[in-house]
This record gives sequence, C-alpha cells and structure tokens, in this order.
Amino acid sequence: MSTAKESQRVIIFDTTLRDGEQSPGASMNLEEKIRIAETLEEMGVDIIEAGFPIASPGDFESVREIAKLVKNSVVCGLARATRNDIDRCAEAIRPAKRGRIHTFISTSPLHMKHKLQMDPERVHEAVIDSVTYARRFTDDVEWSGEDGSRSDHDFLCRCIESAIKAGARTINIPDTVGYAIPDEFAALIRTIINRVPNIDKAIISVHCHNDLGLAVANSLAAVDAGARQIECTINGLGERAGNAAMEEIVMALRTRQDRMPFVSNVKTENIMKASRLVSAVTGFVVQPNKAIVGANAFAHEAGIHQDGVLKHAATYEIMTPESVGLSASKIVLGKHSGRHAFREKLKELGYDLGDNAVEDAFVRFKELADKKKDVFNEDLMALVDDEVVRVNDRVHVIGLDIHCGTKTPPKAELELEIDGVMKSCKATGDGPVDAAFNCVKALIPHEARLQLYQVMAVTQGTDAQAEVTVRLEENGKTTNGQAADTDTIVASVKAYVNALNKLLVKRAKTEPPAMTA
Ligand code: KIV
Ligand code: ZN
Repeated sequence: MSTAKESQRVIIFDTTLRDGEQSPGASMNLEEKIRIAETLEEMGVDIIEAGFPIASPGDFESVREIAKLVKNSVVCGLARATRNDIDRCAEAIRPAKRGRIHTFISTSPLHMKHKLQMDPERVHEAVIDSVTYARRFTDDVEWSGEDGSRSDHDFLCRCIESAIKAGARTINIPDTVGYAIPDEFAALIRTIINRVPNIDKAIISVHCHNDLGLAVANSLAAVDAGARQIECTINGLGERAGNAAMEEIVMALRTRQDRMPFVSNVKTENIMKASRLVSAVTGFVVQPNKAIVGANAFAHEAGIHQDGVLKHAATYEIMTPESVGLSASKIVLGKHSGRHAFREKLKELGYDLGDNAVEDAFVRFKELADKKKDVFNEDLMALVDDEVVRVNDRVHVIGLDIHCGTKTPPKAELELEIDGVMKSCKATGDGPVDAAFNCVKALIPHEARLQLYQVMAVTQGTDAQAEVTVRLEENGKTTNGQAADTDTIVASVKAYVNALNKLLVKRAKTEPPAMTA
C-alpha cells in the first residue's frame, strides 16, 4: 500500500555510466566504472544504468561486473528494440540482485522517417514486441520513446499504452535533443496522465538533455506534473551539452521543499565525492561557477557578502556546504598527524579504503605534508583519487629531472619502471613538459595523439598541488590520465603515463604486449 510519503518519492535513475560515457572523450575503463557504481550505490541512487551491453564487449563486461557487485540499487542495461540487443542486455544484468532492461525506440516523425526509416505502424509493433520479449527475462522493464518531446502526442500515448500492456513498469519520456521548455514538457506529462488509460500501472520517468540549459528545469517541471523518476548524471555529464545534473536535482528538491514537497533517497552529503570522482575519471573539469559542485559554489568573494555570511550564513547561503559533502573545517591534517587521524579523516570524506590502500595513501600524505604547509580536504581527495587510478599500472614513474628556464634549452631525464624493468632516457623539447613527454615517447613508442592537456590547481596558493589531466587517442580509442603533485611537471608526466597505461590495457586486448623501445 502506498503512503503519502511514497507518492511524493522521486526515483533517481543515474545514467552517468551510459549516457554520460557517450560524451566524446569521457570513456571509462572497467575499474573506473566499478568505482563510480559503488559510489552511486553508497549515495543511495535507486537505479544505476551501467551501460549499453550490445555496444561493445567492454560495455557488456562492465554491466555484468556491476550487476554482480551492486546489491542495493537496481542495475539497468540499455537495449534497442531488437531481440539481439535485449538478449545481450538480459545476459549482462543476469547476476544482478535486481536487474532492469531499458528498451527504447524513436517515436518522433523525424526520427522514424530519417533515422529508423520505419513507418509508425512498424514502430508500434516493435514497441509491443520488444517489451513483451524483455519481460521474459525480468519483471522490471522500462520503455522509452526516444525523442518523446517531439513526438506526435496521439502516437506517443498509443505506444505508451501498448508498452504498459506488454509489461513495461516504467515509461520514460526523453527530451532527447534538449528542445523542450518547462511549461510545454510539464503539459506533455499531464497529457500522458490524462490520456493513457493504464498509466496508473507504470511510473512516469523523464530523461532531459541540456542543449538549451533547461534539463534540470524540465525534469523538475515534469515531477510537478506527475513524473516520479528522473534520469540524470553526476556533473550533468552526457551527450552534447549533457543530461540533467543529479546534484542540482536532489539539492533543488531538498532546498525547496516548500514548493516541491518531493523526496529522493540520495544522501546529498556524498555529492562532492561523486562529483570529484567522475571529473577525475573522465577528465571533464567542473566549471568553477557550476551549481552545487563548482569550486565557487560556496565561496563568497565580495566583502559585503562575506560580511553577511559571517553575521548569518543564511543571508547568502541557501544550502550549507556540509549538505553537499564539503567540510566546514578546511585545514585537515598536518605533518605530525598520525595514521588514526588520517584514517578517520578519509572516512569523514567518504573513502572506505582497505588497510593496504590506507597505508599507501598515508605514505604519500606524509610526503605531501613535508612539501606543503597546509593539507586541505581537497588535497587529500586528490591524493586518494591519484592512488586509486594507479592500481594495476604496468608503467610507473620512478624519477624525473628537469632543466629549464631562460638560459638553457629545456631538458628532461626520466626513469620509468616498465613491467618491472628500469628504463631511462634523456630528451629535449619546446618546454619542460614537452621534453618530459618526449622521454615518455622514446621509452614507450606509440602513435597516440594528445587530445587534451589540462592543469588545474587543487587549492589556492603557490604551493598548491597541480592536478593534471591528459587525454590520448589511438585508433579511435581515448583514455584519460590523471595525476596530482606539488610539481606540475611531475604531475604532467604521471598523468601522461596513467593515460598510456590505460591505452596499453585497451591495446593488449588486440595485440601482443610488446611496448618498450
Ligand atoms: O536521450 C535519449 O533519448 C536517450 C534514450 C536512450 C533514453 O538516451
Ligand atoms: Zn540521453
């Protein structure tokens, strides 16, 4: 029996690992996807769309591994309206404690004519066939009418009614191209509720893209109109301008209970951790003024604002930093802090690491505390993220010596450990980073193209750690490498080597593992 509270509950469906990964350059490897899935589960996400199993063996494997691991969230796979897709998806989600098949087909005139080249009757038949077939594998089937917001309402309602009759429990209405505006999208949801006779047998979901910057507004308007599932991603990652940002949705619901009396299961205190992780893994930097998770989201620069906040935080803060997982105490540990305090601090920041990982991180923390007077929460998070991305690396940076400045041409001397063997090399370049990267290229010959080289300061001050992201592309495959260090060139080389390590894993699946010069 549903209680009043249940009827106000909004199901959060995260598609960072599926739609988010479809962003050009945002590819993630299996370990990274697993870490993100664990983080999403820990933060209370109801449904994790883990991938599109038919898309590639890697996608299939990650959906399957996540299905094995995740216990509290539903694990969902995406499938087009074909039996092959659905078979593959069903196989991938089979180990899940609770698994969902999400099958979709376009319903707009534009997509049916030009993309599918199918007439509406055939699309309607495919809706019935795909949902009926998917129900052979699980009771939990979601159906989406792609480009729903640009579909003919009569036809969309007919497809929805048939999908529900065939066994779909969730009906998703995507604004695939981010074209809708809030009033119009809310009206579409109301039309569906009023016109589809069996709509009470399904949950209405929405999936909004952000091409006009309206994805969150459209999603919330749809909830007001009766939708009860929102599809979204961490940091708003996703195709083109991205999807609705989960952090914005859950914080809007939490902050404006007076106007939107809906609840989600998401522990908002875990937002920053999830945001950082997704940014680190994909190399997609969060813009400083991004709502909720941007570096400036809780910073008050203007004197008049600072004065107000000091007198009463609510003068300029509508949410507390703590509610999204930012700690009030900014300085965390110093060089005299012990293991116990370190472990406790990691827990407070949401990291639950094994003994070995804590020990490794502790050693690196001590090294950092020797170089840097104040170690902030952000430093610690960068350090732990850095530690985890290096697990299983075949190549490690052992030593780096750089000569540069105005008097001598830039020179680098680099020592790498490659599959347990020490190798070193000297090179020059058009700057210290270029010289160091030339050493890497000499020690590990490769044709990968550097697509992105990005340096960010983790905190303020000239002693801040530099967080570097490197994106490499080889034969259409991209990988992102990340590293943080107080020395920008060291961080750059480590990030390059990290991206290369990931590329080697991708390559190893197709070639023998020869890689040194
Ligand atoms: O944007 C979209 O329409 C989608 C569907 C597959 C749900 O991602
Ligand atoms: Zn989408």
